[in-house]
Amino acid sequence: MELQRSALRLLLGFLVVSLIPVSLARFVVEKNSLRVTSPESIKGTHDSAIGNFGIPQYGGSMAGVVMYPRENQKGCKGFDEFGISFKSKPGALPTFVLIDRGDCFFALKVWNAQKAGASAVLVADNIEEALITMDSPEEDGSTAKYIENITIPSALIEKSFGQALKKAYSGGEMINVNLDWREAVPHPDDRVEYELWTNSNDECGVKCDMLMEFVKDFKGAAQILEKGGYTQFTPHYITWYCPQAFTLSKQCKSQCINHGRYCAPDPEQDFGTGYEGKDVVLENLRQLCVFRVANETKKPWVWWDYVTDFQIRCPMKEKRYNKECANGVIKSLDLDIKNIEKCMGDPNADSENHVLKEEQDAQVGKGSRGDVTILPTIVVNNRQYRGKLAKSAVLKAICSGFEETTEPAVCLSSDVETNECLDNDGGCWQDKSANLTACKDTFRGRVCECPLVDGVQFKGDGYTICEASGPGRCSIKNGGCWHGSRDGRTFSACLDNGELKCQCPPGFKGDGFKSCEDIDECKEKKACQCPECGCKNTWGSYDCSCSGDLIYIRDHDTCISKSARETKSAWTAVWIILIGLAIAAGGAYLVYKYRLRSYMDSEIRAIMAQYMPLDSQAEVPNHVNDEHP
Ligand SMILES: *[C@@H]1O[C@H](CO)[C@@H](O)[C@H](O)[C@H]1NC(C)=O
Ligand SMILES: *[C@@H]1O[C@H](CO)[C@@H](O)[C@H](O)[C@H]1NC(C)=O
Ligand SMILES: *[C@@H]1O[C@H](CO)[C@@H](O)[C@H](O)[C@H]1NC(C)=O
Repeated sequence: MELQRSALRLLLGFLVVSLIPVSLARFVVEKNSLRVTSPESIKGTHDSAIGNFGIPQYGGSMAGVVMYPRENQKGCKGFDEFGISFKSKPGALPTFVLIDRGDCFFALKVWNAQKAGASAVLVADNIEEALITMDSPEEDGSTAKYIENITIPSALIEKSFGQALKKAYSGGEMINVNLDWREAVPHPDDRVEYELWTNSNDECGVKCDMLMEFVKDFKGAAQILEKGGYTQFTPHYITWYCPQAFTLSKQCKSQCINHGRYCAPDPEQDFGTGYEGKDVVLENLRQLCVFRVANETKKPWVWWDYVTDFQIRCPMKEKRYNKECANGVIKSLDLDIKNIEKCMGDPNADSENHVLKEEQDAQVGKGSRGDVTILPTIVVNNRQYRGKLAKSAVLKAICSGFEETTEPAVCLSSDVETNECLDNDGGCWQDKSANLTACKDTFRGRVCECPLVDGVQFKGDGYTICEASGPGRCSIKNGGCWHGSRDGRTFSACLDNGELKCQCPPGFKGDGFKSCEDIDECKEKKACQCPECGCKNTWGSYDCSCSGDLIYIRDHDTCISKSARETKSAWTAVWIILIGLAIAAGGAYLVYKYRLRSYMDSEIRAIMAQYMPLDSQAEVPNHVNDEHP
């Protein structure tokens, strides 16, 4: 019995510290490629294993020159103690520092090199073996602080390759290398599937704080990606099971639900106080069910809201890490509590819980993905992400899962900037005077693309030429034409009728590019010269005033009397009406006369016919027919 207990302690202690599930772990080393471009003797491509800290440039690549320090070759001490600096001069290639494995944590070597100005670190293995992943050390407070601040990428290389690099370096050769992460994440289609293996425990120290911070930070981007249909995200939770022999022990009862089937380490690693492992398993299960229920209503992103709200509203510290508090959050998010409870099932039942069973199955690696053994773990397109748990770094990894040009806008936003545009606009086209640049910061590094400014698209190669095109060109720097403003009035010589032209506006003369001068209309155009006129030149125009009661008619350049114009027009109207009436009357008279005459004619003929001799009757119709067709 005593033996059994100590064996259990050992087992639990092991599980608590390292969070390795009971199954035998199969860990896949994520690799990127390291290409040596010179010297000729060692030219070629080699695998390197991406470190589990720092910021790998997923989707990008980085060129540099290798440097091997003359002292402190294991990098366990600060390089400043040896007067060594890796800072590259402006315009020079970044420095990749080669450091030997051994004597201290990988992360410390990388941190020391970063402080001395390195842009990337290559750690040469000291034994011949397959590549391994450099992980961050189990933290105590002080190491974790510097790990947080590691921003440069690092990779482990094989011993033999390290030796080849050192040999070339000692031979005085310049070694050019290129670290390439472009194929580190596969991109099989236009949707990226990714998983976060997480934990609801909020009292495990630095690693839990980091995880919570990340979830909070990443929520916005995750929701944009999910709502846009760009990604399919699934949260996962690691549990382990209690060996059959111990299911009735105090430890298993406090750490497990469903009779030892699903367990989590005690949050404080102290069985006597605070929350127990089973509280954590229950909350993990609830979060899984929140996701499932939200996913069923086609709103999987609500999981991010629930998890962040729960962190804030229900922390262990305030003794609110419980069902009541969780239900409050669920209600506020308008999720169906009944469905969630149904999904969670009975934690005291001596039977499987299908949700947690699926999680345990998923822990075991499939295909190219290894087992999930580290918490937190991010899996992108079935590849485990390696690198710092930070929004921009993870976003970069997810974004690199899209085919180039199919990535959503959030991938090209400032969240994943590389800041390559800060230095001379990344060598792209620029117009300093108008504050315009073709440099665009993206997670793949900078691209030179002619900008869209105030709705006007610039066109060109992006490097040497960008020109405004399409309508609205005149609004950008006046299309390069003259413009001026004075007394609140602005004139531009830019003319756009499908073709851009610089032509001084009316009232000005000049070449339209550099200068347009006001025309003195009073003198030069002989405007406003009538006897009653008084002419005054203004900028771009002129004012003409007429003496007395007269007003100026600009079209005719003449002054006329206000009243004269009115009378004249009144008389015109009267005349038009009178003439109209006269014409109408005349017309009516003519019609009347004509009708009358034809009536008379036929009457007279009828009367006369009675007195005409019969033999002449034949003549009458002829005559009548002639006159009256
Ligand atoms: C890490 O960075 C933070 C903020 O940038 C700084 O306050 C802190 O001192 C740094 N830690 C170390 C160990 O350099
Ligand atoms: C979420 O829903 C999608 C379809 O809407 C489904 O394919 C996916 O398997 C669901 N995920 C989980 C964990 O239920
Ligand atoms: C140029 O534009 C950027 C961003 O649009 C702005 O932050 C900066 O202040 C501008 N600089 C000048 C000189 O106008």
